[in-house]
Amino acid sequence: MNFDDVVDRYNTNCLKFDFKKERNKPEDIFPMWVADMDFRCPPEVINDLKARVEHGIFGYSDVDITYFRALYSWYLTHFNVKLQRDWLFNTPGVVFALATAVKVFTKENDYVLINNPVYNPFSEVIEDNKRKIMSSDLINNNGHYKIDFVDLENKIKEYNIKLYLLCSPHNPVGRVWSKEELDKIVEICKRYNVFIVSDEIHSDFVYEGKHICMLNYQDYLDNIIVCTSPSKTFNLAGLQTSNIFIPNQNVRNKFMKEVWATGYSNINALGLVACKSAYEHGDKWLKELIEYLKGNVKLVEEYFRENLPNIKVTHPEGTYLLWIDFSGTNLIDEEVTNKLTYEAKLWLNSGIKYGKSGKGFQRLNIALPRSELQHALEKIKEVFG
Ligand SMILES: Cc1ncc(COP(=O)(O)O)c(C=O)c1O
Repeated sequence: MNFDDVVDRYNTNCLKFDFKKERNKPEDIFPMWVADMDFRCPPEVINDLKARVEHGIFGYSDVDITYFRALYSWYLTHFNVKLQRDWLFNTPGVVFALATAVKVFTKENDYVLINNPVYNPFSEVIEDNKRKIMSSDLINNNGHYKIDFVDLENKIKEYNIKLYLLCSPHNPVGRVWSKEELDKIVEICKRYNVFIVSDEIHSDFVYEGKHICMLNYQDYLDNIIVCTSPSKTFNLAGLQTSNIFIPNQNVRNKFMKEVWATGYSNINALGLVACKSAYEHGDKWLKELIEYLKGNVKLVEEYFRENLPNIKVTHPEGTYLLWIDFSGTNLIDEEVTNKLTYEAKLWLNSGIKYGKSGKGFQRLNIALPRSELQHALEKIKEVFG
């Protein structure tokens, strides 16, 4: 696999490249925002999709045992988890599952716990469903983010928290939570009977440490849902297929009823093929991708250190999203965003999107060919250097 290849994504209904005008961005801006990659997916996946497309009938589809086996083997090999067939429920996206969980486990005006700065749809699914956000903000300890366990427990008590949306690994701060940290989360949640919905969509992007799947917490499985998808790992987001694991049968029934109430019932026929194929054949491709992304991380870190020392890159343990601290430029967020957008002609996500604690930061997607990343860095240097 040659990740250096630059693939033209224009005219593919690509959210990043084809809809700049609709999102009030200049036509010549280079997009480094939404979390998909500018790499083609594994060749085996493309071949399996081609074969399926050749068949020519795309009727209603469902999951068979071979699909489950592909997931089972991936989770056993990568995360030491033995999935059970009846835990699996498919939704068209992880965010859809988070929104469903909010509706199942809380009532209007209840508080839902999150850790800002976090992927913005966490807040959106809470507020759009008329619940309230309670953030136990992460502590930024000199560029290393930590959970404030005292604050977390206090907020759970004070706001009668019943649902915690956990981002693991964490987008955008790039933490891969350690076993000690997850043990502590479970210990606190047990004490107050808090249900944990763990969004593990970034679990395959780990550079340091080890991702621990929440399905490893055997004695708390009745109170855990794990949301997964091959969409980030293999760049399949447009195929709208996610795998949600719900060990407790009553919880699963409630969750399924809530999903059916939306009118959604059948999995995407092509998403099904791509997901199975990726988990069956994508291991080697993923290993190469991780090495390539590590190289991109190194490039960005070294470039900023050498050329723009007042802009600090948060060292990522995982994910391909870099969390960059521009506060040392002494510019306000709007000025930073304007400079990036109209002078450097680069489209990043402003950190403020992820909660107030994202102030001063920008999120940069580095899942792209190195030559393009290098070019983007040079433009940042021209404008901020
Ligand atoms: C933490 C996290 N969860 C969920 C998603 C999106 O998932 P989906 O497209 O399956 O709704 C993203 C995409 O960036 C993400 O970063």
